[in-house]
Amino acid sequence: MNAIVEFPLINHDAIRKQAEQVSIPPAVTPAERERLFAQIKQLLQEQNAVLVAHYYTDADLQILAEETGGFVSDSLDMARFGHEHPAQTLVVAGVRFMGETAKILNPEKRILMPTLEAECSLDLSCPEKEFIQFCDEHPDHTVVVYANTSAAVKARADWVVTSSIAVKVATHLAEKGEKILWAPDKYLGGYIQNITGADMILWPGSCVVHERFKAEELKQLRKKHKAAMVLVHPESPADIIAQADLVGSTTQLIKAVTETDAQEFIVATDNGIFHKMKQAAPDKILLEAPNAGIGATCHSCAHCPWMAMNSLYNLAETLQQGINEIHVDLEIGKKAMIPLQRMLDFAARQ
Ligand code: 13P
Ligand code: SF4
Repeated sequence: MNAIVEFPLINHDAIRKQAEQVSIPPAVTPAERERLFAQIKQLLQEQNAVLVAHYYTDADLQILAEETGGFVSDSLDMARFGHEHPAQTLVVAGVRFMGETAKILNPEKRILMPTLEAECSLDLSCPEKEFIQFCDEHPDHTVVVYANTSAAVKARADWVVTSSIAVKVATHLAEKGEKILWAPDKYLGGYIQNITGADMILWPGSCVVHERFKAEELKQLRKKHKAAMVLVHPESPADIIAQADLVGSTTQLIKAVTETDAQEFIVATDNGIFHKMKQAAPDKILLEAPNAGIGATCHSCAHCPWMAMNSLYNLAETLQQGINEIHVDLEIGKKAMIPLQRMLDFAARQ
């Protein structure tokens, strides 16, 4: 069984509009970049702080994280790294759920983010009250939530998963005969259901970036680039996933570029990932999957507006002023820690 439930309370159009209205910080000049790099490096050192950045953030933030002993990765490894690193302050460049995950796993540490306004449409589409009510209506289901959710939603879950481990966890649960209540990404949930055959009900959330990839245009691009390998993040719609040579988390997609013999790739995920892909395989050809439809002015603008809110400017300001600290209610944090730790323990056994 695979049923997508519809809640009239979730206003997808309002969430899409919110994404369009995000204000993106201005680009830095080369001189400003140099000044900010030096300032941030000094502040990180003085404050015993480490910078952890997601692959979708600006290339400068990724460079800075790596130059200062920090880390750039997908959401699972960001959580792992922050948990294992001895620094007392973690600065998380990404979206809010990533900062909250760091705080849940490390309640004793100070967690800062360049901005507290970086949302995620999946998180926004899964409000705590409605979600808890939905879970209460399905007491015979194991509740599995994507990491892209609030601390309160995680606190109601049996399992938290990221895209890199979701299929393995669902397989494990299906083998035990458990029925799954999945939230919030309906496309990732549908993909997991198809792969594992698990009995699932799906919350109807979606990612504003990945839902825009267009199947017909992708087909045409593939015809022009017959040797290209198609790499797809599983937050994409089923008709995009159906055309993939490989479906995987951001880290798994980067690995495909470096570890396969293919020379050309069509990539259906946020284009922030191209920085790492180019760095890892400078001679390979990378093409963005089309995402706005025939006739539209924007064919390949797949970039998360909330990830783009992270900049050198607000990172420097955050460290200088000690602002944008993440707080999670202690009781909620304790409850959310259980399914998160379950995921980390499960991942360690793989
Ligand atoms: P990853 O877990 O693959 O990093 O994905 C997080 C995300 O938000 C993708 O849109
Ligand atoms: Fe959320 Fe999509 Fe942005 Fe990832 S790309 S953080 S899923 S809105």
